[in-house]
Amino acid sequence: MTFSENSPSSKQERRLIVTGGAGFIGANFVHYWCAKYPNDRVIVLDALTYAGNRQTLALLDTHPNFRFVKGDICDRSLVDALIQEEAVDTIVHFAAESHVDRSILGPGAFVQTNVVGTFTLLEAFRQHWLAGDRPSHYRFHHVSTDEVYGSLGSDDPAFSETTPYAPNSPYSASKAGSDHLVRAYHHTYGMPTTMTNCSNNYGPYHFPEKLIPLMCINILLGKPLPVYGDGQNIRDWLYVKDHCSAIDAVLERGVIGETYNVGGNNEVKNIDLVHMLCELMNELAPKLPVRPAQELITFVKDRPGHDRRYAINSTKLQNELGWTPSVTVQEGLRQTVEWYLENEAWWRPLLSEEYQAYYSKVYA
Ligand code: NAD
Ligand code: TYD
Repeated sequence: MTFSENSPSSKQERRLIVTGGAGFIGANFVHYWCAKYPNDRVIVLDALTYAGNRQTLALLDTHPNFRFVKGDICDRSLVDALIQEEAVDTIVHFAAESHVDRSILGPGAFVQTNVVGTFTLLEAFRQHWLAGDRPSHYRFHHVSTDEVYGSLGSDDPAFSETTPYAPNSPYSASKAGSDHLVRAYHHTYGMPTTMTNCSNNYGPYHFPEKLIPLMCINILLGKPLPVYGDGQNIRDWLYVKDHCSAIDAVLERGVIGETYNVGGNNEVKNIDLVHMLCELMNELAPKLPVRPAQELITFVKDRPGHDRRYAINSTKLQNELGWTPSVTVQEGLRQTVEWYLENEAWWRPLLSEEYQAYYSKVYA
């Protein structure tokens, strides 16, 4: 196992800004972190775009070390003030525009938040790090995606950390741009950065536009289940709590300047995944407008530039930092379906007019 000389011991308290902490993975991470490290100071910086939800963090409002700040990561003076006021030593950067279909409809916001926003955070953190005489326990952790590596053929080996970047969508291109900036800030300035590139996450608090929550909610509403193209596209699925523990491992034991791929070893064809969700809903939902739910499956026009297959090799993270995913896709999907069944009060308000307008544009 490799331990970084620059990492603090796990007992040292951190003062973190978590950007995008009101989104899906960020919120799961904040809940995970506040439970595991209650003495750490956790400041969430989130602009509360359509994908951010303050309610997801409501249970933490009584936590003495938690603070929520509504704000944009592109706002340099806000970021500077927050870093200084809170004497921040760690940034865990989740904030992003994250949905491929929205990036096809309007790529501008993706370049702004994902590229300019990451640049703004890096610059602010660099000045703070320099002013403090380059403290060795500081950390900028960047959360990225396997989509920067492009699309695999059916027999290609899984993406490794040395796979060349070949992003195909405006979303993945903007994430690739942010990854390159993070890499350059370490290479050029010696900034204490780490990065994770993770496969598709699923679990609680996932915004309805993404495949798994969309299918769960449409089954409950008796609406068609839109499968793009021939449904044979493959994604690797990771339960979100396993992503949180992977970032924890990298923050605690990761080597400065390194990138770690994170994946679940769960390659599933979209159509098979939709069938699994239908089966779980048939079993677990007391009432369904259409039963069996499989009757709702509808093949629709493919997404432009749709990547065929993602698969990720996370051997480096497993061998060097001792991380392993703990939830199988069968267990994780069951827990996720149960969560959507029990938390209609969370997802129902998200089906807003704005969301319906977006839905009509994509699925018209
Ligand atoms: P999400 O869309 O659910 O949440 C994004 C959050 O960022 C929201 O709370 C939003 O309000 C906030 N945000 C957006 N623009 C902002 C800005 N300019 N300033 C401040 N806050 C802003 O996304 P997610 O699925 O939780 O993804 C989080 C991160 O993980 C992203 O960087 C994404 O690229 C990466 N990632 C996601 C997946 C996945 O399967 N969802 C997989 C790998 C990597
Ligand atoms: P998504 O959740 O959007 O994640 P990503 O595109 O980042 O992998 O989609 C996962 C897969 O599901 C992807 O291959 C596209 C497909 N998909 C559908 O078939 N229908 C849908 O309505 C959605 C949202 C996605």
